[in-house]
Amino acid sequence: MVRKIKDWLEVRIGLAEIIRTQLTGYMVPGNINLFYTLGFVALAAFFSQVATGFFLLIYYLPHSEYAFRSVQDIMSRVPYGWLFRMMHAVGSNLMVATVVLHMLSVSYMGSYKKPRELTWVAGAFMLFVTLTFCLSGYLLPWSQLSYWATTIVTSIPAAIPYAGDMIAGTLRGGEMVSGATLNRFFAIHVILLPLLLIFLFGIHLFLVRRIGVSSPPFGRTAPRWRPGTSFRHEDHPDGHPFYPYFVQREMMMVFLYFAAMFFIIAFLPTLFSPDDANTPADPFRTPAHIKPEWYFLPFYQLLKLIPNKLLGIGIQALLAALFIFWPFIDTREEDNILKRPRLLALFAAVVVSWVILTVWGRYS
Ligand code: HEM
Repeated sequence: MVRKIKDWLEVRIGLAEIIRTQLTGYMVPGNINLFYTLGFVALAAFFSQVATGFFLLIYYLPHSEYAFRSVQDIMSRVPYGWLFRMMHAVGSNLMVATVVLHMLSVSYMGSYKKPRELTWVAGAFMLFVTLTFCLSGYLLPWSQLSYWATTIVTSIPAAIPYAGDMIAGTLRGGEMVSGATLNRFFAIHVILLPLLLIFLFGIHLFLVRRIGVSSPPFGRTAPRWRPGTSFRHEDHPDGHPFYPYFVQREMMMVFLYFAAMFFIIAFLPTLFSPDDANTPADPFRTPAHIKPEWYFLPFYQLLKLIPNKLLGIGIQALLAALFIFWPFIDTREEDNILKRPRLLALFAAVVVSWVILTVWGRYS
């Protein structure tokens, strides 16, 4: 019977062919390392966010009168509601961390180089979308923290001459953060961003599969293939099969991701939720210390350090453009960063300043 179903399906969808070309016969480089699994872990993190978000949507009420109360009910009355809420909230932080690590890893391995420029550009937009997910989701519990953090962030564009007030007003749906802001952030969070991320991921993965996984520059026996004007898939006939070799490693890292998540939920449940996250939003009472989440702190601190707000925004826009188009700026053929001291110094300087700005922003 099973054989019959298999044969029936085989004629129609050619499963054996798909398994051979996409899994068992698809080879990854022989010197591939665990850092190459981070893209898959980021994808698993996104699916976990979609699944837990779906359960939250059943009880969450996107209205300024009821939003805070509905989240409190999810935490205390809905069976296992606390688990889904915590998985979603802690997961958002871990997903950002995973995407950032994936980005640092592809930078260090030089995987953004020709012909993978567009894979990087799609990835850069995916990082922005991930951060916008966090920004829009942060407002939804309608706590003091959500309200005032959103007030700070949406006031930033107001420094842009002429269009600034219009941009801030459009984001907020009025002069200040209100129920109208909550409604638009909700719509963006649950419809627009998921569709956008799936679309960008489609492009990202199509490019990874079409071009082939890059071989890490360290411990490589043959040089990385350099494209000319014509296309050739980068294959690794002496490498490991994608399934089971690499999929096993990807799954191990996904388990590690969830182990970290459940560790935080069990032993550090307030790590990402200060007191102001448990007080309902009050537009007439500004809390004494309000700080954006850790992943926005470096940008926030940089803006605080530059007295002229417009200049601050200009510098950040320039940095964002440099980041998006980096593969078109660093066009040197050598992809081993250890053989390029100046690039290595730049990489270290970016990481160190990022850490310093984050810690400074946290304690200033
Ligand atoms: C939600 C965010 C993201 C997801 C789900 C994701 C997913 C993936 C996956 C599954 C792969 C293939 C396996 C691997 O090399 O890990 C990959 C490769 C790649 N990603 Fe991402 N990615 C994301 C964000 C980014 C970002 C922010 C960048 C850089 C700005 C980036 C740049 C790349 C590059 C250059 C490759 C090709 C690596 C190679 O061929 O060796 N990705 N990504």
